[in-house]
Amino acid sequence: MSEGAVKKEEKPRKFQAIRGTRDLLPPETALWSRVEQTAHEVFATFGYGEIRPPIFEATELFARGVGGDTDIVSKEMYTFVDRSEKLEPDPSIGSMNVFFQKVRELFKSGEIPTDEQDEAALKIAEDQWKKVDDLLEGGLKSESAGTEIYKLVLFYDALRLGTRVSLRPEATASVCRAYIEHNMQQLPQPVKLYYMGPMFRRERPQKGRYRQFYQIGAEILGGPDAPAIDAELIEMLMTFFDKCGLQGTELSINSIGHAADNCRRDYVAKLKAKLEKVKDKLGADSQRRIETNPLRVLDSKLEHEQPIIATLPRIADNLCDDCKTHYAAVKHELELRGVIYRENWRLVRGLDYYMRTTFEITAQGLGSQNAVCGGGRYDGLVELLGGPPTKGIGFAIGEDRLILSLQESGKAPVAQGRDVYIAWMGENARATAVRAAKTLRNAGFSVELPPVEQKFGKALGQADKLGAKYALILGDNEVTSGEWTLKTLADGTQRKVSEQQLLDSLQKM
Ligand code: HAM
Repeated sequence: MSEGAVKKEEKPRKFQAIRGTRDLLPPETALWSRVEQTAHEVFATFGYGEIRPPIFEATELFARGVGGDTDIVSKEMYTFVDRSEKLEPDPSIGSMNVFFQKVRELFKSGEIPTDEQDEAALKIAEDQWKKVDDLLEGGLKSESAGTEIYKLVLFYDALRLGTRVSLRPEATASVCRAYIEHNMQQLPQPVKLYYMGPMFRRERPQKGRYRQFYQIGAEILGGPDAPAIDAELIEMLMTFFDKCGLQGTELSINSIGHAADNCRRDYVAKLKAKLEKVKDKLGADSQRRIETNPLRVLDSKLEHEQPIIATLPRIADNLCDDCKTHYAAVKHELELRGVIYRENWRLVRGLDYYMRTTFEITAQGLGSQNAVCGGGRYDGLVELLGGPPTKGIGFAIGEDRLILSLQESGKAPVAQGRDVYIAWMGENARATAVRAAKTLRNAGFSVELPPVEQKFGKALGQADKLGAKYALILGDNEVTSGEWTLKTLADGTQRKVSEQQLLDSLQKM
Protein backbone atom coordinates (compact mmCIF):
# COMPACT_ATOMS: atom_id res chain seq x y z
CA MET A 1 0.00 0.00 0.00
CA SER A 2 1.34 3.43 -0.88
CA GLU A 3 1.89 6.03 1.80
CA GLY A 4 -0.89 8.12 0.29
CA ALA A 5 -3.37 5.27 0.71
CA VAL A 6 -2.48 4.85 4.40
CA LYS A 7 -3.03 8.52 4.99
CA LYS A 8 -6.42 8.39 3.30
CA GLU A 9 -7.62 5.60 5.58
CA GLU A 10 -6.63 7.38 8.79
CA LYS A 11 -9.17 10.08 9.28
CA PRO A 12 -7.24 13.29 9.93
CA ARG A 13 -7.87 14.85 13.32
CA LYS A 14 -10.22 17.81 13.28
CA PHE A 15 -8.87 20.68 15.29
CA GLN A 16 -10.92 23.03 17.38
CA ALA A 17 -9.94 26.19 19.20
CA ILE A 18 -8.71 25.34 22.72
CA ARG A 19 -11.32 25.52 25.50
CA GLY A 20 -11.84 29.08 26.63
CA THR A 21 -10.42 30.56 23.40
CA ARG A 22 -12.38 31.49 20.30
CA ASP A 23 -12.13 32.92 16.82
CA LEU A 24 -13.48 36.41 16.38
CA LEU A 25 -15.08 36.52 12.97
CA PRO A 26 -16.60 39.04 10.59
CA PRO A 27 -18.98 40.80 10.81
CA GLU A 28 -18.42 40.92 14.60
CA THR A 29 -14.79 41.96 14.13
CA ALA A 30 -16.03 45.19 12.51
CA LEU A 31 -17.54 46.08 15.90
CA TRP A 32 -14.24 45.23 17.62
CA SER A 33 -12.38 47.53 15.25
CA ARG A 34 -14.89 50.31 15.78
CA VAL A 35 -14.56 50.04 19.57
CA GLU A 36 -10.76 50.02 19.33
CA GLN A 37 -10.78 52.99 16.99
CA THR A 38 -12.99 54.88 19.45
CA ALA A 39 -10.50 54.09 22.23
CA HIS A 40 -7.58 55.40 20.14
CA GLU A 41 -9.49 58.61 19.45
CA VAL A 42 -10.91 59.28 22.93
CA PHE A 43 -7.69 58.42 24.78
CA ALA A 44 -5.68 60.68 22.44
CA THR A 45 -7.92 63.63 23.35
CA PHE A 46 -6.88 63.07 26.98
CA GLY A 47 -3.18 62.99 26.05
CA TYR A 48 -2.46 59.25 26.28
CA GLY A 49 0.07 57.41 24.13
CA GLU A 50 -0.18 53.74 23.14
CA ILE A 51 2.15 51.12 24.63
CA ARG A 52 2.41 47.55 23.31
CA PRO A 53 4.10 45.38 25.90
CA PRO A 54 4.97 41.74 25.15
CA ILE A 55 2.44 38.95 25.64
CA PHE A 56 4.72 37.01 28.00
CA GLU A 57 6.92 38.16 30.84
CA ALA A 58 8.88 36.67 33.73
CA THR A 59 6.44 34.86 36.02
CA GLU A 60 8.09 36.64 38.91
CA LEU A 61 6.85 40.01 37.59
CA PHE A 62 3.21 38.95 37.98
CA ALA A 63 3.85 37.11 41.25
CA ARG A 64 5.33 40.27 42.75
CA GLY A 65 3.09 42.78 40.99
CA VAL A 66 -0.34 41.16 41.12
CA GLY A 67 0.38 39.17 44.30
CA GLY A 68 1.35 35.54 44.93
CA ASP A 69 -1.82 34.78 46.92
CA THR A 70 -4.27 36.14 44.37
CA ASP A 71 -6.38 33.69 42.34
CA ILE A 72 -4.81 35.06 39.17
CA VAL A 73 -1.25 34.17 40.15
CA SER A 74 -1.84 31.12 42.30
CA LYS A 75 -4.27 29.30 39.98
CA GLU A 76 -4.85 30.96 36.66
CA MET A 77 -1.58 31.72 34.90
CA TYR A 78 -0.26 29.89 31.86
CA THR A 79 3.34 29.35 32.85
CA PHE A 80 6.16 27.55 31.11
CA VAL A 81 9.91 27.29 31.27
CA ASP A 82 11.82 29.17 28.63
CA ARG A 83 14.90 26.97 28.37
CA SER A 84 18.27 28.64 28.82
CA GLU A 85 20.03 29.22 25.51
CA LYS A 86 23.33 28.37 27.17
CA LEU A 87 22.40 24.71 27.36
CA GLU A 88 22.54 22.21 24.54
CA PRO A 89 18.91 21.60 23.56
CA ASP A 90 19.28 17.82 23.40
CA PRO A 91 22.35 16.46 25.16
CA SER A 92 23.35 13.05 23.92
CA ILE A 93 24.05 10.22 26.35
CA GLY A 94 27.74 10.67 25.54
CA SER A 95 27.80 14.29 26.73
CA MET A 96 25.69 13.90 29.85
CA ASN A 97 28.53 14.45 32.32
CA VAL A 98 29.50 17.72 30.68
CA PHE A 99 25.86 18.71 30.45
CA PHE A 100 25.15 18.25 34.16
CA GLN A 101 28.31 20.13 35.03
CA LYS A 102 27.16 23.03 32.85
CA VAL A 103 23.74 23.02 34.54
CA ARG A 104 25.43 23.25 37.96
CA GLU A 105 27.51 26.22 36.76
CA LEU A 106 24.45 28.03 35.40
CA PHE A 107 22.54 27.38 38.62
CA LYS A 108 25.44 28.79 40.58
CA SER A 109 25.89 31.92 38.47
CA GLY A 110 22.15 32.60 38.70
CA GLU A 111 21.82 32.30 34.93
CA ILE A 112 19.11 29.73 35.53
CA PRO A 113 16.89 30.92 38.38
CA THR A 114 16.64 28.16 40.89
CA ASP A 115 14.99 27.16 44.14
CA GLU A 116 15.21 24.19 46.49
CA GLN A 117 12.92 22.14 44.29
CA ASP A 118 15.21 22.62 41.28
CA GLU A 119 18.28 21.73 43.35
CA ALA A 120 16.60 18.54 44.53
CA ALA A 121 15.43 17.67 41.00
CA LEU A 122 18.94 18.15 39.63
CA LYS A 123 20.35 15.85 42.31
CA ILE A 124 17.85 13.10 41.44
CA ALA A 125 18.58 13.44 37.72
CA GLU A 126 22.34 13.31 38.32
CA ASP A 127 22.04 10.23 40.53
CA GLN A 128 19.91 8.57 37.92
CA TRP A 129 22.49 9.45 35.28
CA LYS A 130 25.19 7.73 37.37
CA LYS A 131 23.03 4.63 37.50
CA VAL A 132 22.54 4.65 33.73
CA ASP A 133 26.26 5.35 33.20
CA ASP A 134 27.11 2.22 35.22
CA LEU A 135 24.66 0.22 33.14
CA LEU A 136 26.29 1.54 29.99
CA GLU A 137 29.65 0.34 31.25
CA GLY A 138 28.20 -3.13 31.48
CA GLY A 139 27.03 -2.89 27.87
CA LEU A 140 23.39 -2.36 28.87
CA LYS A 141 22.86 -6.06 29.41
CA SER A 142 20.85 -5.73 32.59
CA GLU A 143 17.11 -6.33 32.27
CA SER A 144 16.33 -3.09 34.03
CA ALA A 145 18.40 -0.96 31.59
CA GLY A 146 15.35 0.19 29.61
CA THR A 147 13.46 1.23 32.75
CA GLU A 148 16.43 3.10 34.15
CA ILE A 149 16.99 5.05 30.94
CA TYR A 150 13.29 5.86 30.83
CA LYS A 151 13.50 7.13 34.42
CA LEU A 152 16.46 9.31 33.48
CA VAL A 153 14.44 10.89 30.68
CA LEU A 154 11.58 11.56 33.10
CA PHE A 155 13.81 13.13 35.74
CA TYR A 156 15.62 15.13 33.12
CA ASP A 157 12.32 16.44 31.71
CA ALA A 158 11.22 17.46 35.18
CA LEU A 159 14.22 19.76 35.55
CA ARG A 160 13.37 23.39 35.07
CA LEU A 161 16.36 24.58 33.14
CA GLY A 162 15.44 28.13 32.30
CA THR A 163 13.44 31.18 33.21
CA ARG A 164 9.83 30.70 34.20
CA VAL A 165 7.65 32.89 32.02
CA SER A 166 3.89 33.40 31.95
CA LEU A 167 1.38 34.58 29.41
CA ARG A 168 0.25 37.92 30.79
CA PRO A 169 -2.93 37.70 32.89
CA GLU A 170 -3.14 41.51 32.92
CA ALA A 171 -0.93 44.37 31.74
CA THR A 172 -0.50 46.79 34.66
CA ALA A 173 2.60 45.00 35.95
CA SER A 174 4.06 45.01 32.41
CA VAL A 175 3.44 48.74 31.98
CA CYS A 176 5.16 49.44 35.32
CA ARG A 177 8.07 47.22 34.25
CA ALA A 178 8.34 49.17 30.99
CA TYR A 179 8.16 52.51 32.87
CA ILE A 180 11.16 51.44 34.94
CA GLU A 181 13.06 49.78 32.10
CA HIS A 182 12.82 52.82 29.82
CA ASN A 183 13.50 55.39 32.55
CA MET A 184 10.17 57.03 31.90
CA GLN A 185 10.48 58.90 35.21
CA GLN A 186 12.72 61.25 33.25
CA LEU A 187 9.85 62.23 30.94
CA PRO A 188 7.40 64.97 31.90
CA GLN A 189 5.20 63.46 34.63
CA PRO A 190 2.73 61.89 34.81
CA VAL A 191 3.19 59.50 31.91
CA LYS A 192 -0.17 58.48 30.44
CA LEU A 193 -0.27 55.19 28.55
CA TYR A 194 -2.93 52.90 27.12
CA TYR A 195 -2.90 49.43 25.63
CA MET A 196 -5.17 46.87 24.06
CA GLY A 197 -4.68 43.19 23.43
CA PRO A 198 -5.14 39.63 24.64
CA MET A 199 -4.72 38.51 28.26
CA PHE A 200 -4.74 34.92 29.53
CA ARG A 201 -6.30 33.43 32.65
CA ARG A 202 -7.12 29.80 33.23
CA GLU A 203 -10.61 30.45 34.59
CA ARG A 204 -13.71 28.30 34.14
CA PRO A 205 -15.13 29.47 30.81
CA GLN A 206 -18.70 30.81 30.73
CA LYS A 207 -20.60 33.66 29.09
CA GLY A 208 -18.33 36.70 29.25
CA ARG A 209 -15.44 34.73 30.71
CA TYR A 210 -12.71 33.31 28.51
CA ARG A 211 -9.20 31.99 28.92
CA GLN A 212 -7.94 34.27 26.20
CA PHE A 213 -9.78 37.55 26.55
CA TYR A 214 -9.06 41.10 25.49
CA GLN A 215 -8.52 44.21 27.52
CA ILE A 216 -8.34 47.89 26.68
CA GLY A 217 -6.53 49.55 29.55
CA ALA A 218 -4.89 52.80 30.58
CA GLU A 219 -2.35 53.70 33.26
CA ILE A 220 -1.10 57.01 34.67
CA LEU A 221 2.36 56.77 36.21
CA GLY A 222 4.34 59.42 38.08
CA GLY A 223 3.32 62.92 39.07
CA PRO A 224 1.19 63.66 42.11
CA ASP A 225 -1.68 61.60 43.53
CA ALA A 226 -4.06 64.54 43.11
CA PRO A 227 -7.70 63.40 43.30
CA ALA A 228 -8.33 65.19 39.99
CA ILE A 229 -6.14 62.55 38.33
CA ASP A 230 -8.38 59.75 39.62
CA ALA A 231 -11.48 61.66 38.53
CA GLU A 232 -10.20 62.57 35.07
CA LEU A 233 -9.22 58.96 34.40
CA ILE A 234 -12.74 57.84 35.28
CA GLU A 235 -14.22 60.69 33.23
CA MET A 236 -12.23 59.49 30.21
CA LEU A 237 -13.50 55.96 30.74
CA MET A 238 -17.13 57.06 30.93
CA THR A 239 -16.66 59.28 27.85
CA PHE A 240 -15.32 56.25 25.98
CA PHE A 241 -18.26 54.05 27.02
CA ASP A 242 -20.62 56.81 26.02
CA LYS A 243 -19.04 57.16 22.57
CA CYS A 244 -19.30 53.38 22.13
CA GLY A 245 -23.03 53.58 22.92
CA LEU A 246 -22.77 51.23 25.92
CA GLN A 247 -26.10 51.02 27.75
CA GLY A 248 -26.93 50.78 31.44
CA THR A 249 -23.46 51.54 32.78
CA GLU A 250 -23.08 51.82 36.55
CA LEU A 251 -19.93 53.11 38.16
CA SER A 252 -19.11 51.94 41.69
CA ILE A 253 -16.29 53.48 43.67
CA ASN A 254 -14.61 52.92 47.00
CA SER A 255 -11.46 53.76 48.90
CA ILE A 256 -9.56 50.89 50.47
CA GLY A 257 -7.11 53.04 52.39
CA HIS A 258 -3.43 53.38 52.42
CA ALA A 259 -1.19 50.33 52.62
CA ALA A 260 1.81 52.15 54.03
CA ASP A 261 -0.19 54.06 56.61
CA ASN A 262 -1.92 52.38 59.43
CA CYS A 263 -5.51 52.67 58.24
CA ARG A 264 -5.50 49.70 55.90
CA ARG A 265 -3.49 47.49 58.25
CA ASP A 266 -5.65 48.37 61.24
CA TYR A 267 -8.81 47.81 59.26
CA VAL A 268 -7.64 44.42 57.98
CA ALA A 269 -6.76 43.42 61.54
CA LYS A 270 -10.22 44.48 62.75
CA LEU A 271 -11.89 42.68 59.86
CA LYS A 272 -9.89 39.54 60.49
CA ALA A 273 -10.78 39.53 64.19
CA LYS A 274 -14.48 39.83 63.35
CA LEU A 275 -14.22 37.17 60.64
CA GLU A 276 -12.60 34.73 63.08
CA LYS A 277 -15.70 35.05 65.24
CA VAL A 278 -18.09 34.15 62.42
CA LYS A 279 -15.76 31.69 60.70
CA ASP A 280 -18.04 28.66 61.18
CA LYS A 281 -20.84 30.31 59.26
CA LEU A 282 -18.66 31.03 56.21
CA GLY A 283 -17.97 28.85 53.19
CA ALA A 284 -14.62 27.16 52.54
CA ASP A 285 -13.32 29.90 50.22
CA SER A 286 -14.02 32.68 52.67
CA GLN A 287 -12.59 30.65 55.54
CA ARG A 288 -9.36 30.27 53.62
CA ARG A 289 -9.31 33.96 52.77
CA ILE A 290 -9.44 34.95 56.45
CA GLU A 291 -5.82 33.84 56.47
CA THR A 292 -4.63 34.72 52.96
CA ASN A 293 -6.51 37.94 52.17
CA PRO A 294 -9.40 38.89 54.49
CA LEU A 295 -10.46 41.83 52.29
CA ARG A 296 -11.47 39.39 49.55
CA VAL A 297 -14.20 37.95 51.79
CA LEU A 298 -16.09 41.17 51.05
CA ASP A 299 -16.14 40.11 47.38
CA SER A 300 -18.12 36.95 48.12
CA LYS A 301 -21.29 36.43 46.09
CA LEU A 302 -22.50 33.44 48.17
CA GLU A 303 -26.04 34.12 49.29
CA HIS A 304 -25.78 32.71 52.78
CA GLU A 305 -22.73 34.86 53.50
CA GLN A 306 -24.43 38.15 52.60
CA PRO A 307 -26.16 38.84 55.96
CA ILE A 308 -22.87 38.09 57.75
CA ILE A 309 -20.88 40.40 55.48
CA ALA A 310 -23.39 43.19 56.10
CA THR A 311 -22.37 43.19 59.78
CA LEU A 312 -18.60 43.42 59.13
CA PRO A 313 -16.68 46.60 59.92
CA ARG A 314 -16.50 49.02 56.98
CA ILE A 315 -13.31 50.51 55.63
CA ALA A 316 -14.88 53.97 55.22
CA ASP A 317 -15.25 54.18 59.02
CA ASN A 318 -11.60 53.27 59.44
CA LEU A 319 -9.77 55.45 56.92
CA CYS A 320 -6.98 57.68 58.22
CA ASP A 321 -7.43 61.44 57.79
CA ASP A 322 -5.30 61.61 54.62
CA CYS A 323 -7.22 58.81 52.93
CA LYS A 324 -10.55 60.25 54.03
CA THR A 325 -9.64 63.64 52.55
CA HIS A 326 -8.41 62.03 49.34
CA TYR A 327 -11.59 59.98 48.93
CA ALA A 328 -13.86 62.97 49.58
CA ALA A 329 -11.91 65.02 47.04
CA VAL A 330 -12.15 62.26 44.39
CA LYS A 331 -15.93 62.24 44.82
CA HIS A 332 -16.02 66.03 44.58
CA GLU A 333 -13.90 66.00 41.41
CA LEU A 334 -16.20 63.39 39.86
CA GLU A 335 -19.22 65.56 40.60
CA LEU A 336 -17.42 68.52 39.04
CA ARG A 337 -17.15 66.47 35.85
CA GLY A 338 -20.77 65.33 35.94
CA VAL A 339 -19.74 61.68 36.45
CA ILE A 340 -22.47 59.73 38.25
CA TYR A 341 -21.22 57.14 40.74
CA ARG A 342 -22.43 54.85 43.46
CA GLU A 343 -20.37 54.07 46.54
CA ASN A 344 -19.78 50.41 47.32
CA TRP A 345 -17.86 49.77 50.52
CA ARG A 346 -17.33 46.14 49.53
CA LEU A 347 -15.43 46.94 46.34
CA VAL A 348 -11.92 45.69 47.19
CA ARG A 349 -10.81 44.16 43.83
CA GLY A 350 -8.91 40.93 43.40
CA LEU A 351 -5.35 42.15 42.85
CA ASP A 352 -2.92 43.03 45.63
CA TYR A 353 -1.55 46.29 44.29
CA TYR A 354 -4.53 48.54 44.95
CA MET A 355 -4.73 51.28 47.55
CA ARG A 356 -7.15 54.21 48.08
CA THR A 357 -9.44 54.64 45.04
CA THR A 358 -10.93 51.48 43.54
CA PHE A 359 -13.71 51.37 40.96
CA GLU A 360 -15.68 49.03 38.78
CA ILE A 361 -18.22 49.50 36.00
CA THR A 362 -21.04 47.15 35.16
CA ALA A 363 -23.17 47.19 32.03
CA GLN A 364 -26.42 45.56 30.95
CA GLY A 365 -26.98 42.26 29.20
CA LEU A 366 -24.02 40.40 30.67
CA GLY A 367 -25.46 38.00 33.25
CA SER A 368 -23.25 37.13 36.19
CA GLN A 369 -20.02 38.37 34.58
CA ASN A 370 -21.26 41.93 34.34
CA ALA A 371 -18.09 43.89 35.24
CA VAL A 372 -16.92 45.56 32.02
CA CYS A 373 -14.13 47.44 33.70
CA GLY A 374 -12.09 47.48 36.88
CA GLY A 375 -9.36 49.73 38.13
CA GLY A 376 -7.84 51.71 40.90
CA ARG A 377 -4.88 53.48 42.40
CA TYR A 378 -1.63 51.60 42.99
CA ASP A 379 0.98 54.01 44.39
CA GLY A 380 3.96 51.89 45.37
CA LEU A 381 3.72 49.21 42.67
CA VAL A 382 6.57 50.66 40.61
CA GLU A 383 8.72 50.70 43.75
CA LEU A 384 7.77 47.12 44.54
CA LEU A 385 9.03 46.19 41.06
CA GLY A 386 12.40 47.84 41.66
CA GLY A 387 11.70 51.38 40.43
CA PRO A 388 11.62 54.75 42.20
CA PRO A 389 8.66 55.70 44.45
CA THR A 390 5.93 56.45 41.91
CA LYS A 391 2.20 57.13 42.02
CA GLY A 392 -0.01 55.10 39.75
CA ILE A 393 -3.62 54.61 38.78
CA GLY A 394 -5.35 52.84 35.91
CA PHE A 395 -8.13 50.63 34.62
CA ALA A 396 -8.76 47.77 32.25
CA ILE A 397 -11.91 47.25 30.22
CA GLY A 398 -12.96 43.70 29.34
CA GLU A 399 -13.37 44.17 25.60
CA ASP A 400 -15.18 40.85 25.10
CA ARG A 401 -17.81 41.94 27.64
CA LEU A 402 -18.06 45.41 26.17
CA ILE A 403 -18.76 43.88 22.76
CA LEU A 404 -21.27 41.40 24.24
CA SER A 405 -23.18 44.18 25.92
CA LEU A 406 -23.20 46.28 22.72
CA GLN A 407 -24.51 43.29 20.78
CA GLU A 408 -27.22 42.62 23.37
CA SER A 409 -28.45 46.16 23.00
CA GLY A 410 -28.62 45.86 19.22
CA LYS A 411 -25.38 47.60 18.32
CA ALA A 412 -24.07 44.66 16.31
CA PRO A 413 -23.02 45.59 12.79
CA VAL A 414 -24.69 43.86 9.87
CA ALA A 415 -22.50 41.94 7.47
CA GLN A 416 -20.53 44.36 5.39
CA GLY A 417 -21.66 44.21 1.75
CA ARG A 418 -19.61 45.27 -1.28
CA ASP A 419 -20.15 48.53 -3.09
CA VAL A 420 -19.57 47.09 -6.54
CA TYR A 421 -19.61 43.56 -7.95
CA ILE A 422 -17.94 43.33 -11.34
CA ALA A 423 -19.68 40.81 -13.56
CA TRP A 424 -17.40 40.15 -16.51
CA MET A 425 -17.38 37.70 -19.42
CA GLY A 426 -14.80 37.21 -22.17
CA GLU A 427 -11.05 37.70 -22.41
CA ASN A 428 -11.32 41.36 -23.45
CA ALA A 429 -13.60 42.10 -20.54
CA ARG A 430 -11.19 40.46 -18.07
CA ALA A 431 -8.48 43.10 -18.62
CA THR A 432 -11.05 45.92 -18.46
CA ALA A 433 -12.53 44.45 -15.27
CA VAL A 434 -9.13 44.31 -13.59
CA ARG A 435 -8.52 47.94 -14.54
CA ALA A 436 -11.96 49.04 -13.33
CA ALA A 437 -11.47 47.22 -9.99
CA LYS A 438 -8.17 49.01 -9.43
CA THR A 439 -9.67 52.44 -10.18
CA LEU A 440 -12.66 51.82 -7.89
CA ARG A 441 -10.59 50.48 -5.00
CA ASN A 442 -8.18 53.39 -5.24
CA ALA A 443 -11.17 55.68 -4.86
CA GLY A 444 -12.20 53.78 -1.69
CA PHE A 445 -15.02 51.58 -3.01
CA SER A 446 -15.15 47.96 -1.85
CA VAL A 447 -15.10 45.79 -4.94
CA GLU A 448 -15.63 42.09 -5.60
CA LEU A 449 -13.94 40.90 -8.76
CA PRO A 450 -14.71 37.23 -9.49
CA PRO A 451 -11.47 35.39 -10.29
CA VAL A 452 -13.02 33.26 -13.01
CA GLU A 453 -15.55 34.00 -15.70
CA GLN A 454 -19.20 33.41 -14.79
CA LYS A 455 -22.42 33.64 -16.76
CA PHE A 456 -24.08 36.98 -16.05
CA GLY A 457 -27.09 35.37 -14.32
CA LYS A 458 -24.87 33.53 -11.87
CA ALA A 459 -22.69 36.59 -11.31
CA LEU A 460 -25.68 38.77 -10.45
CA GLY A 461 -26.99 36.11 -8.05
CA GLN A 462 -23.61 36.10 -6.33
CA ALA A 463 -23.62 39.91 -6.17
CA ASP A 464 -27.00 39.75 -4.41
CA LYS A 465 -25.76 37.18 -1.90
CA LEU A 466 -22.79 39.37 -1.04
CA GLY A 467 -25.08 42.34 -0.47
CA ALA A 468 -23.47 44.39 -3.24
CA LYS A 469 -25.09 47.72 -4.02
CA TYR A 470 -24.15 47.86 -7.69
CA ALA A 471 -23.08 45.47 -10.41
CA LEU A 472 -20.77 46.68 -13.11
CA ILE A 473 -21.50 44.55 -16.16
CA LEU A 474 -18.67 44.11 -18.63
CA GLY A 475 -19.22 41.88 -21.68
CA ASP A 476 -17.81 42.02 -25.18
CA ASN A 477 -20.45 44.58 -26.24
CA GLU A 478 -19.60 46.92 -23.39
CA VAL A 479 -15.87 46.70 -23.96
CA THR A 480 -16.16 47.31 -27.70
CA SER A 481 -18.62 50.19 -27.43
CA GLY A 482 -16.97 51.73 -24.33
CA GLU A 483 -20.46 51.99 -22.83
CA TRP A 484 -20.40 50.08 -19.55
CA THR A 485 -23.54 48.91 -17.76
CA LEU A 486 -24.02 49.89 -14.14
CA LYS A 487 -26.92 48.17 -12.41
CA THR A 488 -28.44 49.22 -9.08
CA LEU A 489 -29.24 45.91 -7.45
CA ALA A 490 -31.91 47.15 -5.04
CA ASP A 491 -34.32 48.22 -7.81
CA GLY A 492 -32.83 46.60 -10.92
CA THR A 493 -32.39 49.90 -12.79
CA GLN A 494 -29.53 50.12 -15.25
CA ARG A 495 -27.60 52.96 -16.80
CA LYS A 496 -24.80 53.25 -19.32
CA VAL A 497 -21.56 54.92 -18.26
CA SER A 498 -18.21 55.44 -19.92
CA GLU A 499 -14.96 54.53 -18.15
CA GLN A 500 -14.36 58.24 -17.44
CA GLN A 501 -17.84 58.69 -15.98
CA LEU A 502 -17.76 55.61 -13.72
CA LEU A 503 -16.33 57.14 -10.55
CA ASP A 504 -18.33 60.31 -10.92
CA SER A 505 -21.58 58.40 -11.40
CA LEU A 506 -20.99 56.16 -8.41
CA GLN A 507 -20.02 59.03 -6.16
CA LYS A 508 -23.25 60.80 -7.05
CA MET A 509 -25.50 57.77 -6.62
P1 HAM B 1 -9.38 42.95 36.39
O1 HAM B 1 -10.55 43.38 37.21
O2 HAM B 1 -8.74 41.69 36.74
O3 HAM B 1 -8.34 44.14 36.46
O4 HAM B 1 -9.81 42.89 34.88
C1 HAM B 1 -10.40 44.00 34.25
C2 HAM B 1 -11.55 43.57 33.37
O5 HAM B 1 -11.12 42.55 32.47
C3 HAM B 1 -12.70 42.92 34.13
O6 HAM B 1 -13.58 43.88 34.67
C4 HAM B 1 -13.38 42.12 33.02
O7 HAM B 1 -14.22 42.95 32.26
C5 HAM B 1 -12.21 41.71 32.15
N1 HAM B 1 -11.86 40.29 32.42
C6 HAM B 1 -11.11 39.79 33.42
N2 HAM B 1 -11.01 38.45 33.33
C7 HAM B 1 -11.72 38.09 32.23
C8 HAM B 1 -12.00 36.84 31.58
N3 HAM B 1 -11.51 35.69 32.03
N4 HAM B 1 -12.77 36.85 30.48
C9 HAM B 1 -13.27 38.02 29.97
N5 HAM B 1 -13.02 39.22 30.54
C10 HAM B 1 -12.26 39.26 31.65
C11 HAM B 1 -7.14 44.15 35.83
O8 HAM B 1 -6.80 43.36 34.99
C12 HAM B 1 -6.26 45.32 36.22
N6 HAM B 1 -4.97 45.19 35.51
C13 HAM B 1 -6.95 46.63 35.88
C14 HAM B 1 -6.12 47.82 36.22
C15 HAM B 1 -5.36 48.53 35.38
N7 HAM B 1 -5.98 48.34 37.42
C16 HAM B 1 -5.16 49.35 37.36
N8 HAM B 1 -4.77 49.46 36.12
